[in-house]
Amino acid sequence: APTLEAYRPAMHYTAKDTWLNDPNGLVFHEGIYHLYYQNNPFGNVHSNMSWGHATSTDLVNWEEHQVAIPCDDIEEIFSGSIVVDHGNSSGLGVGGVAPLVAIYTSAYKPGSAHPGIQAQSLAWSIDGGYSWTKYSGNPVLTRNSPEFRDPKVFRYNGPAGSYWVMAAVEAHDFAVLLYRSDDLRSWDYLSTFGPANGTGGIWECPDLFELPVDGLPGTTKWVLTVNMNPGGPNGGSAGQYFVGEFDGVSFRSETTLTEGMQDPGLVDQYQWLDWGRDFYAAVSFSNVPDGRRLMIGWMNNWQYANQIPTSPWRSPMSLVREVSLAMVDGQPRLVQQPAPECTAESLPGPAQRVSLSGTVAVDGGAAVQLADVTFTPGTADEFGLVVRGATDGAAGSSGTRISISPGAGELVLDRTNSGDSGFHPAFPSVSKAPLRALDGTYSLRIFIDHCSVEVFAQDGLVTLTELIFPDPAQTAITLFSANGSAEALLQLVAVGQDNA
Ligand code: FRU
Repeated sequence: APTLEAYRPAMHYTAKDTWLNDPNGLVFHEGIYHLYYQNNPFGNVHSNMSWGHATSTDLVNWEEHQVAIPCDDIEEIFSGSIVVDHGNSSGLGVGGVAPLVAIYTSAYKPGSAHPGIQAQSLAWSIDGGYSWTKYSGNPVLTRNSPEFRDPKVFRYNGPAGSYWVMAAVEAHDFAVLLYRSDDLRSWDYLSTFGPANGTGGIWECPDLFELPVDGLPGTTKWVLTVNMNPGGPNGGSAGQYFVGEFDGVSFRSETTLTEGMQDPGLVDQYQWLDWGRDFYAAVSFSNVPDGRRLMIGWMNNWQYANQIPTSPWRSPMSLVREVSLAMVDGQPRLVQQPAPECTAESLPGPAQRVSLSGTVAVDGGAAVQLADVTFTPGTADEFGLVVRGATDGAAGSSGTRISISPGAGELVLDRTNSGDSGFHPAFPSVSKAPLRALDGTYSLRIFIDHCSVEVFAQDGLVTLTELIFPDPAQTAITLFSANGSAEALLQLVAVGQDNA
C-alpha cells in the first residue's frame, strides 16, 4: 500500500499536515507571491476556517508560514482577497508603509453579535503579509444575510473614475453583487449580475478583471468568473465565466446564453473555467506586474473533498495558470495556460524527449511528468493515451484514460480504473468536454503529478483537471487508437522527483 506521503504532489502546493480549500488573498508584493488559503489549522477536514499562508518567488516552490488570520470564538475567516493599498486610502498604513489590506468574510458563530450572518471584514498588515491585525470597525459591509461572501476587491481606474470595487456573492440568489469604496472601509452598492447560464448550484468566489483581446493593447474586455457548487458540467464543484463590459458600475455579459435560471439542455454550451471535477474556487492574483493575470484553483470537489485518501495533509492547489482572452469564431474565449514558470524545464531533474507516431507504450521515467502530445486523426474513431498506467499498457490494466473522439467532438477523461477510487461513490467517474480540431489536429499539454492530471487542450481553450490516486510505481504512458489509425507526436518530460 502507498505510504501516507506517496500522493503528496511535487508541483502543486499542499499544506504540510492540515486541510486546505479555496485560495484566498492572492497577491504579488515586493517580489513575493503570497498564497493564502482556507485552512483548518487543527485538522484535515473542513472546519475552524482560518487563512493559512505560503509564499513563493517562482510560482513553483512554496514555503508555508504560520497561520495568517486565525478563527476565534466570534468568527470563522471565510474566503476573500488582498489588495496593496498603495495610496494608503484606508489610513491603515503606518509611517509611510502602504498596507496590505485583506477583505474577508466573517462567518459569525452562534453566540456572537451576528450569529449565522456572513459579512465582509478587513484585516491589515504592515510587515509584508506575515502578521495581520483585524480592523476594529468590522464588519465593514453587511446585508444581514447568511450567504453573503467571498469578496474580491480590485482597483478600478476607468472612465467612471478611480476607486475600489468589490465583487461578492449572494450565494443562494446566484448573484454577484458589486460595490464601490474610496477607503475600503465604507462601501456603496453598484449593481447585481445573475442569475445567468449555470445555476445548478450556489454561486461562490467571484472575480472580475480586464484583459486585452488577442493580446492587442487598446482592445480590452472584462471577464467575470464565478464558481458554482454543485452542478458542474461533470458533477459537483466547477467554475464558469462570462465576457463583456464593465463601465465602473455594471457588468454586461456578451456570452450569456441563458438569462435567469439555467436551461439543462445548454449546460454543455456554457463557458466553464475547467471541465474536470477538481478545479474550484479559482481566483486571480492582484498587483502582478506587466498586466499578467494569474489564477489558482483548489484541486478538489466538495462531493468528496473531505474523504480523499491523503494524510495528514488534504487537498492540493492547482498549478498557477496564466489567462488571456482570444476571439474564437467571433466569440471571446478565455485561454488558460500553465504559467511559464511551471513548465518542467524550470524544475530540477532529468528530462527526456521522445517523438513517435502510431500506437505505443512508453516508460514515463518518473511519476511526475509533463506530456505534450499532438494527434492527427486518421481512420480511428477514437485515440488518446493512458497515463500513470502499468508498464505493459495491457488491456484491463489500470491507468487514467484520456481520449478524443473526433466524430463526437469530445475529450474524455476516465478515472474509473485510475487507482484508489473507492473512498467515495462519486469519485470513480468519466468526465467529458467538447473539443474540436484546430488546423486538423488535437493538442494536449498534460501535467501529471502524484495525485493529479491537468489537461490543457487546444492551446488552453479547454482545460480538464482531475485528482487521481494511482499506484506510485505506475509511470507508463500508452498511446492508443481504436478502430483504425491516428498519428501522435509525443514530447515527454519526466520530472525526476519520486516520493520516498
Ligand atoms: C467555497 C467556499 C466559500 C467559502 C469557503 C468556506 O469553497 O464555500 O464560499 O467562503 O469555501 O471555507
